[in-house]
Amino acid sequence: MNRLTSRWYEHFVRPLLFRMDPETAHHLALRALRVPGALAGLRGFGPAAQPLMLFGVSFRNPLGLAAGFDKNGVALPVWEALGFGFVEIGTVTARPQPGNPRPRIFRYSGPEALINRLGFNNDGAEVIAQRLRRLRGSARPPSIPIGINLGKSRLTPIEEAAADYLYSFRLLQPLADYIALNVSSPNTPGLRSLQEHAALVELLRTITSENALFPAPKPILLKIAPDLSEMEMKEIISACEEFAIAGIIATNTTLDHSAIAPDADEQGGLSGSPLRGRSTAVVSFLRAHTRLPIIGVGGIFDAASAREKFEAGAQLLQVYTGYVYRGPGLLREILG
Ligand SMILES: Cc1cc2nc3c(=O)[nH]c(=O)nc-3n(C[C@H](O)[C@H](O)[C@H](O)COP(=O)(O)O)c2cc1C
Repeated sequence: MNRLTSRWYEHFVRPLLFRMDPETAHHLALRALRVPGALAGLRGFGPAAQPLMLFGVSFRNPLGLAAGFDKNGVALPVWEALGFGFVEIGTVTARPQPGNPRPRIFRYSGPEALINRLGFNNDGAEVIAQRLRRLRGSARPPSIPIGINLGKSRLTPIEEAAADYLYSFRLLQPLADYIALNVSSPNTPGLRSLQEHAALVELLRTITSENALFPAPKPILLKIAPDLSEMEMKEIISACEEFAIAGIIATNTTLDHSAIAPDADEQGGLSGSPLRGRSTAVVSFLRAHTRLPIIGVGGIFDAASAREKFEAGAQLLQVYTGYVYRGPGLLREILG
């Protein structure tokens, strides 16, 4: 079954999708998966459950869909039917925003990579909260954990970032199984400066103290870049420990395009196979310096690259670019 589906995807579906502009292909695939009847066909398709408990959340298996794939949370039942152990939606910003002009996703098939500069195109916290409220109250609410990834609205000055995250947090906290604070996307000017100590402490203090006011506080995770120095990573770890952050997601896309130079002529964040080694190195460094749970993400394309992240110290994994290249068969290949 697994062999068949990955061959079917790689030989028939992928060539069709890869003939299109990457963003058009993405929307088409999302729409196809959502047509009535598709869900029923997908059920029972995924790997067997491998439950695990981490930061108080019960995961169906350790492989999740990374942030950015379903930014607006429009296809949650599909990811569940395909066998993902959890899904992280977003990045969600306080205000709806269109993102950068197109084209803004670029495919590099040889090195199995993508470069994107989407710039947080999303429906905004209010619309997404309403969508999730409806789904949670429906006859078939999600049975896998839904993480919600939050970022800063482009128009909000960086000095007011904490208030901007707080606005989205208040709306979305009750609807999330965990919240991920994204301070690492390269396509919102200034966002990565929130990884610096003083700004990070302010953000973590604002969000964790608000979280404590809710009847059911939720795990707060931090998603970091792969382009940090060891000193910067140590400071991030100490801030996370000080504010009892539940875990670290490592990593986002990289600004270092040297792995695919001179092909990589587009601006934006690089993901996929060329990111694999660097993100694994970040996971290893984190594991050597903290006991906090780690979600490993970056260049996971098969069982070997998944094992590498586990061996480096990750407890959970996420995929994005690997899923674009390998399709639904990737889940069974990794989870058995
Ligand atoms: C097209 C695209 C859009 C993305 N959007 C987001 C996003 O909105 N928020 C975020 O935290 N990460 C985003 N990411 C980063 C992924 O979640 C992931 O951290 C990164 O791509 C590395 O994993 P991969 O090599 O499996 O793709 C995006 C990645 C891609 C390729």
